[in-house]
Amino acid sequence: MGHDRGSVLVTGGGGFVGSHVAEFYALKGYEVIAFDNLSRMRLLRRQGSDPGFNWNYLGKYPSVRRVEGDVRDLKKLESVMEGVEAVVHAAAQTAVTASLLDPVTDFEINALGTLNVLEAARRSKGNASIVGCSTNKVYGSNVNRVGTIEMDKRYAFAGEYSRGIPEDFPIDHCEHTPYGCSKLAADLYIQDYAKTYGLRAASFRMSCVYGERQIGVEDQGWLAWFAGATILGKPITIYGTGKQVRDVLYVGDLVAAFESFLSGKGEPGVYNIGGGADFTLSLLELLEMLEELTGKKPSVRYGGWRQSDQRIYVSDITKAREQLSWEPRVKPSEGVKRLVAWVRSNARIFSTVAG
Ligand SMILES: NC(=O)c1ccc[n+]([C@@H]2O[C@H](COP(=O)([O-])OP(=O)(O)OC[C@H]3O[C@@H](n4cnc5c(N)ncnc54)[C@H](O)[C@@H]3O)[C@@H](O)[C@H]2O)c1
Repeated sequence: MGHDRGSVLVTGGGGFVGSHVAEFYALKGYEVIAFDNLSRMRLLRRQGSDPGFNWNYLGKYPSVRRVEGDVRDLKKLESVMEGVEAVVHAAAQTAVTASLLDPVTDFEINALGTLNVLEAARRSKGNASIVGCSTNKVYGSNVNRVGTIEMDKRYAFAGEYSRGIPEDFPIDHCEHTPYGCSKLAADLYIQDYAKTYGLRAASFRMSCVYGERQIGVEDQGWLAWFAGATILGKPITIYGTGKQVRDVLYVGDLVAAFESFLSGKGEPGVYNIGGGADFTLSLLELLEMLEELTGKKPSVRYGGWRQSDQRIYVSDITKAREQLSWEPRVKPSEGVKRLVAWVRSNARIFSTVAG
């Protein structure tokens, strides 16, 4: 970003992605405002666990001001937007499963919460660049209409989409789930505030992100969840065949993509962001990797397919590569090793969220 060292607002700063963003900018010498209502575990119905792990972690950076607040509260957002140079909006209800149980809360946090962040930025009359955390789920079950090949341990896209799903992939006429809808509404508002009000805002449609300090549970954060369960010897349920494939992105690489946009590269709009076609894993492949790294055989049982689950999702990251001069660097073999090392030394966290 610029050299005048303004402040950076990170909504969801107490979460996995947000806390990495906050740490990155604190280390670069920025004042950071981490804004969060610490509701992740409540939203995921895992009350027993420590809701403030990443929040407390940020306590070691004096330049990170932690503000407890809710993105549904426009006034509170306006109060922290003053003089902000960059915004990373990472606060969200993050799980498809929770959105099916409570679509109204999901809508209020994801759609209205994002509108509030944009509106607070517009009202502040500043010129902050804004990154919104969107998701591959905006493409919904249309992804399942792409031809796939079934292989021994994974599915693969056949033909046309072998480099992954590009930003102009159709989003209409398919099932999204409430989470997909609320995130798509947020994604559209980000695009619209850029066009209508001239905000320098981009929506990053993220695939699976993973890394240290990801407190994965069965409903969200599958790499960390599988690692935690394997280390603790807890059962893992695979919904479907286990051949589902995702491109996986190490969190440090995601933060680098955000920084690229926030420092002036690229245009407002949407970016598909993930490990891309070169960094993919199937569930079965991750389980094998975990067995090798931990020396423990994951205990696996199988269940039926989950609603709207994509058999394969891989981001086509050509646009991000070209416009943001960005490249994912950490290979899954290295990133998963780092994740396992972190989970191993923090296994107590997973003992409370498991199951
Ligand atoms: N991690 C991934 O693989 C992934 C993939 C695609 C998209 N995303 C998106 O990236 C963003 C960050 O995800 P994450 O993995 O860091 O999840 P996370 O749950 O760790 O972080 C989200 C944070 O938002 C906070 N939050 C929830 N509701 C809030 C509210 N009303 N007001 C203020 N704060 C609130 C939570 O307490 C939590 O700390 C989300 O928008 C998510 O949908 C993540």
